[in-house]
Amino acid sequence: MKNVLLIGADGMLGGELKERLEKKYNVVGTTIETLDITNKQAVLDKAKEVKPYFIINCAAYTNVDGCETHEELALSVNGTAVSNIADAAKQEDATFIHISTDYVFPGNLSVDKIYTEDMEPNPVSAYGRTKLVGEENAKKAEKYYILRTAWLYGLGGKNFVKTMLRLSKEKDEISVVNDQHGSPTSTTTLCEIIEGIMEKEPEYGIYHSTNEGFTTWCDFTKKIFEIANIKTKVKGITSKEYKQMYPQSSDRPTNSQLSKEKLKSVGIVPTKWEEALKAYLKEELK
Ligand SMILES: NC(=O)c1ccc[n+]([C@@H]2O[C@H](COP(=O)([O-])OP(=O)(O)OC[C@H]3O[C@@H](n4cnc5c(N)ncnc54)[C@H](OP(=O)(O)O)[C@@H]3O)[C@@H](O)[C@H]2O)c1
Repeated sequence: MKNVLLIGADGMLGGELKERLEKKYNVVGTTIETLDITNKQAVLDKAKEVKPYFIINCAAYTNVDGCETHEELALSVNGTAVSNIADAAKQEDATFIHISTDYVFPGNLSVDKIYTEDMEPNPVSAYGRTKLVGEENAKKAEKYYILRTAWLYGLGGKNFVKTMLRLSKEKDEISVVNDQHGSPTSTTTLCEIIEGIMEKEPEYGIYHSTNEGFTTWCDFTKKIFEIANIKTKVKGITSKEYKQMYPQSSDRPTNSQLSKEKLKSVGIVPTKWEEALKAYLKEELK
């Protein structure tokens, strides 16, 4: 069995991925307590000890609004520390799998257009800026996959779906942004994509890695409530109205729809977002 160093193994994605990979690989999972990725020597030493075939980085500073006020910390975790992991991958001749985001794109394309991997990133938020530095650093590994995901939710962490379920119990009507377009993505689908990449080892590079299909946060919420049979009303508001209500919130791309054609061309076909959401809610609402 191949050795895998899984960094960020107690996060929402990392936790589920660890459980799944343990069936097929020798997995050593690390958390911020056992390996702080901003400590270069510790990262190099851990890689030397594990001798991984794959190094997977699920660790990040993921609070998008928090990045605006803590950009320096976010940059050290999402940006600079990725260079430490890339160096460790090179040191051990390992393949580096790094998770990035749709928020590296400006999101100002018209909504009938979608982003392909070769299009120019230009983030509008501090989170996006720090993750873009991470992408550039990940490429130093040479044997690398950068998987850009979006709107991620899963059983083991705070996420948008859980927030909407909670708010539905507290309010008769919820206001949700209706002019931002993207792909909700379940951690289960992203795990399947990562496992596909590990099995197939396609050409190194960037792969857009979300569920199939697109929606808005508002329609996403309506679908959550429809599946969960929740009667709370959902009112669509614009990003501008949301910003007036929450001035501290980060700017977000209007259209961050990612093309999955490259992923499909290597034989990895992600589930449709509605199907993945149904499967998630079946577990979440048990
Ligand atoms: N969530 C989304 O909607 C979304 C969207 C697009 C892309 N992504 C990307 O997907 C990946 C997984 O996200 P997720 O939602 O699963 O993240 P998560 O649940 O927030 O997990 C991230 C983990 O990284 C750890 N971490 C933070 N700083 C660290 C450090 N210096 N050293 C080691 N570990 C550290 C965190 O520990 P603490 O909890 O103790 O801080 C946490 O366990 C990330 O790369 C994220 O940027 C997420």
